[in-house]
Amino acid sequence: MVSRRAVSALVFTSAALLGFASHSALAQGAGELVVYCSVQEEWCRPMVQGFERATGVKVSMTRKSSGETYAQIKAEAANPRGDIWWGGTGDPHLQAAEENLTEVYKSAKLPELLPSAFKQAVQSQFKTVGIYAGALGFSFNKEQLAKKKLPEPKCWADLAKPEYKDEIQVADPNSSGTAYTMLATFVQLWGEDKAFAFMKAMHKNVNQYTKSGAAPSRAAATGETLIGITFLHDAVQQAVIGAPVQIVAPCEGTGFEVGSMSIIKGAKNLENARKWYDWALTPEAQKIAIAAKSYQVPSNKNSEVPAESPKLGEIKLIDYDFAKYGSSAERSRLLKKWDAEVRNAPRN
Ligand code: F6P
Repeated sequence: MVSRRAVSALVFTSAALLGFASHSALAQGAGELVVYCSVQEEWCRPMVQGFERATGVKVSMTRKSSGETYAQIKAEAANPRGDIWWGGTGDPHLQAAEENLTEVYKSAKLPELLPSAFKQAVQSQFKTVGIYAGALGFSFNKEQLAKKKLPEPKCWADLAKPEYKDEIQVADPNSSGTAYTMLATFVQLWGEDKAFAFMKAMHKNVNQYTKSGAAPSRAAATGETLIGITFLHDAVQQAVIGAPVQIVAPCEGTGFEVGSMSIIKGAKNLENARKWYDWALTPEAQKIAIAAKSYQVPSNKNSEVPAESPKLGEIKLIDYDFAKYGSSAERSRLLKKWDAEVRNAPRN
C-alpha cells in the first residue's frame, strides 16, 4: 500500500519534472545565440543572464576588446561563428559596417534613442546602432601622487612631461577601442603631425600598452600605475568601489564614444540576434548596467541614467567625427602609422 505522503511526493516530482521538461523544451524551441561582447566581463555576464531569462534563448558569450572583436569578425567572414556583437566603441563597428561584415536591421526601438545613438544607425545605413555613450579622460592614484610628490596632471599635454616617466598606462589602439578613441581625439584636437609628436613623447612615459581599454583604470586604482588613460565611466567604477583615484576630464577638451551593437553578416541565429538587438535597446535591459557598476550613459531616452555617470553636458567634448574616424581607410591608416611611429619609437 502506498502512503498518502508518497503519493503527494510522486505528484510533486512529476509536476516538477513536467515543469523542467517544458522549460527545456522552451529553451530548445527558443534556440541559441552567440554573442561577442566588448564591454567589461562584469556587465557581459548579467546581460546574457537577463536575455536568457527574458527569452529562453541559450546564449554563448565571448568577451574581447573592440578592435580584437572587429578583427575576429573579419577573420571569420567566410564562415561566421558569432551572431551579434554587443558593446565596444563605435568606430570599429562603423568600419565593420562599411566592410559589409554586419547586417542591416531597423529595430522598432530606434525612435526611442538619443540623437547620437540614432545617428550611428543612419551613418552606417542601419548596420550598427548606439547603445551607450561615454567620454575619454584619465585617472590617477592620489596616494601614489602624494607619495611621489608629483603635480596633479590636469591636461592631456601634462602626460608628455618627463616627470611622469613610466607612470602612465594606456591600451594598444589596435586591440582597444578606448585607445583608438584617444588616438583619433588627439588628431582631431591638434592635427595629425602634432598628435603623433605628442604620442611619441608620451610613449616615453608609458609603462605598458594593455589589450583592454579599461585595464589602465584598474591599474591606477591599485597603484600599479600612477595614471591610467581610460573612459571616465571606467574610472568612476573604481572610485565607487573605494579606490583612491582622482578622475580628470582633460583641460583641452576630449573625445567620446558611442558604444555600439551590430548583427554579424551571415549570423546562423539571425532571428535571435534581432531579438537581442530589440531587447538590448529597452530601458529594462539597459538598466542591467547599473547593477554591474557600468556608468556609461544609456542610449534609450527612457532609460535611467546612473547617478554616478559622468555628466557629458558638463565636459568639454570635441565634435568627434565618427564618419571619418570610423571609416575603414582612416582607421586602418592611423593604426598602421601608430604601430610604425609610436609603438616602436625609442623610450629614452
Ligand atoms: O566596458 C567599458 C568600456 O569602456 C566601454 O565603455 C567601451 O566601449 C569598451 O570598454 C571599450 O573597450 P576596449 O577599449 O577594451 O575596446
